[in-house]
Amino acid sequence: MSFVRSPRITVFPDTGTAAAVVAARIAGALQQNPSLVIGLATGRTPVALYAELARVTAARRLDWSSATTFNLDEFLGVPPEHPGSYRQFMEGHLFRHVNLRPERINFLVGTAPAEEECRRYERAIAAAGGIDLQILGIGTNGHIGFNEPGLSLQSRTHRVELKPETRQSNVMLFGGDLSNVPAEALSMGMATILQARSVILLANGESKASCVAQVVNGPLTTSLPASFLQLHHDVDIILDAAAALELEREHRSG
Ligand code: PGA
Repeated sequence: MSFVRSPRITVFPDTGTAAAVVAARIAGALQQNPSLVIGLATGRTPVALYAELARVTAARRLDWSSATTFNLDEFLGVPPEHPGSYRQFMEGHLFRHVNLRPERINFLVGTAPAEEECRRYERAIAAAGGIDLQILGIGTNGHIGFNEPGLSLQSRTHRVELKPETRQSNVMLFGGDLSNVPAEALSMGMATILQARSVILLANGESKASCVAQVVNGPLTTSLPASFLQLHHDVDIILDAAAALELEREHRSG
């Protein structure tokens, strides 16, 4: 029996190289299993990955028609067609570049009655057979999806109040005006995320370096939700050089 050390940490010199390697892995997984169920993330971090996936899809004529996707989260009260919605973010960065079937694209609908919408999403994930490969970014406060730091974490898809720093980092989606950024969102829960068969966490830039070091070497704590990834047996953490700075500092000082 062999044990794989998880999380596996890989550091690339820059975001572009990291994106190319992760895109190649997703493309390979899709070729091996055309019915792959992929969990997707939004934010600045995966932009290079989606650009690379669009490029690889065109170059290799990748077929997404049997694949299924589930995005992690959406703003509460924001309709799917709103330019600031995560749905529109995904349309622009990935969906319009690949031949995913619309009925296989799963998204939380921010304008639906929240509690029922969360239950519907959990049922849809279960009906798809669970998520094979979940892509994650990490907030500067250690959130994954919109599982914000706090005294407790919700295990399943739920309605969540966004932290000020999270609203601030999404301000550009809402015309640069913080007062337009919704105060709440819907998000997959921690257990939902941890049930994915494989997880790839991406982090770029020095603003993520301290969080990343705590995720890898710190205690399990609800004040850093991503630390719960330590419980998962198949996690890859993919970093650019800047996001790895604190880990390297800790490593050098023993
Ligand atoms: P970012 O957000 O990629 O825009 O830094 C990451 C996240 O909040 O998950």
